[in-house]
Amino acid sequence: MIRSIVESCGAYLPERVVTNAELAGRIDTSDEWIVQRTGIRARHIAADGEFTSHLATKAASQALQRAGMTPSALDLIVLATSTPDETFPATATAVQANLGMTRGAAFDVQAVCSGFVYALAVADSLIKNGMAGTALVIGAETFSRILDWNDRGTCVLFGDGAGAVVLKAGQGQGTAADRGVLASTLHSDGRHHDLLYVDGGPSTTGTSGFLRMQGREVFKHAVTNLAAVVGETLSKAGLEAKDIDWLVPHQANKRIIDGTGRKLGLPDDKVVQTVERHANTSAASIPLALEAATSDGRIRRGQIVMLEAIGGGLAWGANIIRW
Ligand code: ACO
Repeated sequence: MIRSIVESCGAYLPERVVTNAELAGRIDTSDEWIVQRTGIRARHIAADGEFTSHLATKAASQALQRAGMTPSALDLIVLATSTPDETFPATATAVQANLGMTRGAAFDVQAVCSGFVYALAVADSLIKNGMAGTALVIGAETFSRILDWNDRGTCVLFGDGAGAVVLKAGQGQGTAADRGVLASTLHSDGRHHDLLYVDGGPSTTGTSGFLRMQGREVFKHAVTNLAAVVGETLSKAGLEAKDIDWLVPHQANKRIIDGTGRKLGLPDDKVVQTVERHANTSAASIPLALEAATSDGRIRRGQIVMLEAIGGGLAWGANIIRW
């Protein structure tokens, strides 16, 4: 059986760090309020002229270099973003050109904060059915560009960044002992549009719009749906919560992450958290957290890693990987 094996991770964060204290100098908020409600202390913000494709290209280049692979060896780029450079073409094609990759295919996936989980599932499917032997899966965002900086209920929550993984087809026995992506689960429920959306777009207002959110309502859906989708994904792989070595959640909010970990019965030291210094980077948050926990040696070859996310749509999902 073909398995998509994770060869490497890469990450890029814009240089500029904006602390809660700096935000408190501009809007009516405080470090204490933000930390208590979200666990966020700082976020990175892209410079003028620094686009989602630039962030993505830097993360992708690092992942490729760590995999010892040249762009010409890539068959596929799947880029998860809700903040593309332009309405079209896909930002993935800008990354393809930046990398100097002249063959294969590159396209975007839009599932907001669940984008990386969706993109990984798509790339894994294309590898499993033989359409690609190698793939770059990227999550990259410049959410700072779609924030209403006068809305203190949302602008303090998000940041910019990019993360990437390189996948390569390998052989397995079709059991949970195989290395690679073991199972994925994707869900959405469009009835919840109004809980989290951007109030613009090419077909509606003709502008790119700003993010709008009913935070409390999103919170209510998050922990329940995330614990359920993790359970569903574990059972597809024939594993149990106790088999998870690392939970790498979408980094929206420390309270959501802690609540999900508790619901799954996982100790805090098995849960990777970067929300404190990255804030919510939407589709980039999971690959950024993966890069952090692989670079510092926490995630090791052979371990079971569970990824999960929920966001606008609502759309949610999970992937389970033997690293
Ligand atoms: N600083 C200070 N006060 C604030 C701020 C702020 N930045 N933002 C809101 N407030 C005030 C409100 O005005 C309100 O004041 P009032 O009582 O005088 O009217 C008070 O704080 C409470 O506001 P709520 O919105 O009810 O605050 P809540 O406790 O729900 O916390 C939060 C808000 C942090 C957004 C919370 O609802 C949450 O974490 N939701 C999850 C949403 C999330 O993480 N979304 C990310 C995208 S989706 C995803 O990735 C999962």
